Amino acid sequence: MATPVRLTDSVDGPKLAPTMTRESGNEVDLSVDLAGVRLANPILTASGTCGYGPELSDFLDLTRLGAFTTKSVTVEERLGNPPPRVVETSAGMLNAIGLANVGLERFVAEKVPDLAKLGIPVFVNVAGHSPDDYLTVCRRLDPIEEIAGLELNVSCPNVADGMVFGADPDGLRDLVARVRAEVRRCILIVKLSPNVTDITATARAAVEAGADVISMVNTFVGMAIDIETWRPKLANNTGGMSGPAIKPMAVNLISKVYRTVCRDAGVPIVGMGGVTRWQDAVEFMLAGASAVAVGTALFGDPALPIPIIEGLQAYLVRRGLAGATDLVGRANLHTGA
Ligand SMILES: Cc1cc2nc3c(=O)[nH]c(=O)nc-3n(C[C@H](O)[C@H](O)[C@H](O)COP(=O)(O)O)c2cc1C
Repeated sequence: MATPVRLTDSVDGPKLAPTMTRESGNEVDLSVDLAGVRLANPILTASGTCGYGPELSDFLDLTRLGAFTTKSVTVEERLGNPPPRVVETSAGMLNAIGLANVGLERFVAEKVPDLAKLGIPVFVNVAGHSPDDYLTVCRRLDPIEEIAGLELNVSCPNVADGMVFGADPDGLRDLVARVRAEVRRCILIVKLSPNVTDITATARAAVEAGADVISMVNTFVGMAIDIETWRPKLANNTGGMSGPAIKPMAVNLISKVYRTVCRDAGVPIVGMGGVTRWQDAVEFMLAGASAVAVGTALFGDPALPIPIIEGLQAYLVRRGLAGATDLVGRANLHTGA
């Protein structure tokens, strides 16, 4: 394959040196392996918060990221929900963008060429309203060498029954198994919804059906009401909550899924939800994430991944650790709690 660097390929030096000398003379290795895709460092972008790449490239040297994740791509072009579709809250934001995107064929013709130039692994987020939607997009994108992974956004309602794919373990298992059967080259990432009673059940269903990587979490359903008009601030009434407010919930869910499903299955987790500083990335990794995505915080500071990568690197040096992977799942939970 061309652009995404797999462990078996020879690796050109990444823009940010993945190593740094420790006092002992050993080196710190920032690289991580996501199911065979090598990331020079564990920091990537979260879907929907960074467009298709060029939107951010004036502010952030994208080549320094561990990987880039696109916004959701659907079969047809979608304008999304009517405005207002984004609302700021006291510790984050609510969005009801409604999967606005250029559609599959324009994505391939107009967006992939720019993504291909990045020289870092690119993950394409895929959404749909029926299993056939997901299959159509994945079949088309899987052979494209510049794409390293397909991330299924399963926080979408299935037109057949109105249920969100990611809320029902059986429905999710069926969806992932069908996509898995056709995705041969890309790694398959399943992005879990936190809006469930038991996220370990949906995580297990996704892993058993063949997910290579779990990413988590998508947004939490929320609502904000204008106290003068008495109407919801979002035209869609409800939206997805993201940003610092959801971070402790995300850490808890990652820790749970890591300990009960992913650790034993050997399936890495990409963690996200309210990351704003390098300390958050460390926390997510201690909970069980192998890599960490930055989302909502990019709206405030599009260059934020750089200090996060550098802060993480300095932390590893200070703690005398050999590499980023030494952090994964290392939180010592209190016993008997
Ligand atoms: C404006 C906005 C748009 C988003 N669009 C998508 C999307 O298209 N597909 C998807 O899977 N997740 C989408 N997300 C969810 C994020 O990728 C991420 O899972 C979530 O926001 C939690 O991370 P954060 O708190 O760092 O933003 C979106 C989030 C925001 C704020």
